[in-house]
Amino acid sequence: MGSEGTQGAGEGPDDVAVSGAERAFDTSVAHIARVYDYWLGGKDNFAADRAAAEQAIAAYPDIVFSVRANRAFLARAVRYLAGEAGIRQFLDIGTGIPASNNTHEVAQSVAPESRVVYVDNDPVVLSHARALLTSGPHGVTSYLDADLRDTGRVLTAAAEMLDFSRPVAVMLMAILQHVDNAENPYAIVATLLGALPSGSHLALSHPASDIEAEAQGKLAERLNQTMAEKVTMRDRAQVTRFFDGLELVEPGLVRVQQWRPASEHEARSPAGLWGGVGRKN
Ligand SMILES: C[S@@+](CC[C@H](N)C(=O)[O-])C[C@H]1O[C@@H](n2cnc3c(N)ncnc32)[C@H](O)[C@@H]1O
Repeated sequence: MGSEGTQGAGEGPDDVAVSGAERAFDTSVAHIARVYDYWLGGKDNFAADRAAAEQAIAAYPDIVFSVRANRAFLARAVRYLAGEAGIRQFLDIGTGIPASNNTHEVAQSVAPESRVVYVDNDPVVLSHARALLTSGPHGVTSYLDADLRDTGRVLTAAAEMLDFSRPVAVMLMAILQHVDNAENPYAIVATLLGALPSGSHLALSHPASDIEAEAQGKLAERLNQTMAEKVTMRDRAQVTRFFDGLELVEPGLVRVQQWRPASEHEARSPAGLWGGVGRKN
């Protein structure tokens, strides 16, 4: 059983219960949350993570731009969801170590009453849960230490914090590449969206096997040699399948830097991920 914590109106960070946050973890093997943190310029990583991250950079130097473009896409998608789409509830699975523009910060900057449930299975992310639980006075953020593949547990726990009779945005940013085909990632996404009402959304990004295919192939090969979590890159058609039954909002499934970019500069940033937002009608 993992750990959960919640902070909402009137509570200070000291009131947050995140039991088990100091549980032991193995630093000798690279893990994606810390490798990704290194690519983003963070400090929450260990020697094995840095070595794996550097090997990946050698295979695909644009990875450092790619992860930044992914974070920028995340922020634009949340701004769209909280703004134009009117979403007030977010289920962000595969949260990552806190970086700039975390989902609750963007959502609550648009709609202060936004409720955000974060889910990750990495103990280092768990140890940062307090930083993710700093809501404004009107919003609520919660953290759930759980595995995406355990959809039953994720949905049961999230339903205690979110109102499933009202629309929810499920965020699956750069996580589904860690669910291989044998684990049926499409059924996982369908189960999550199936539990939510019409008006709910899916925001998703996924490393692409068909953008800079050769370099991305080398990147996946290196990561699969060095990291605990294995990587399955997917092409545009395979990523599009995650949106089956949903209506893709404009501009559809595109390279993440081209999803409603804020500037020409942003649109030109190199990035090897597909990204999109879909609506359940
Ligand atoms: C590449 S990072 C992406 C972080 C963030 N979503 C973003 O786009 O900036 C992937 C995150 O997913 C988490 N993750 C990977 N597999 C998972 C699983 N099966 N269940 C829950 N979290 C998982 C990792 O621990 C990591 O924090």
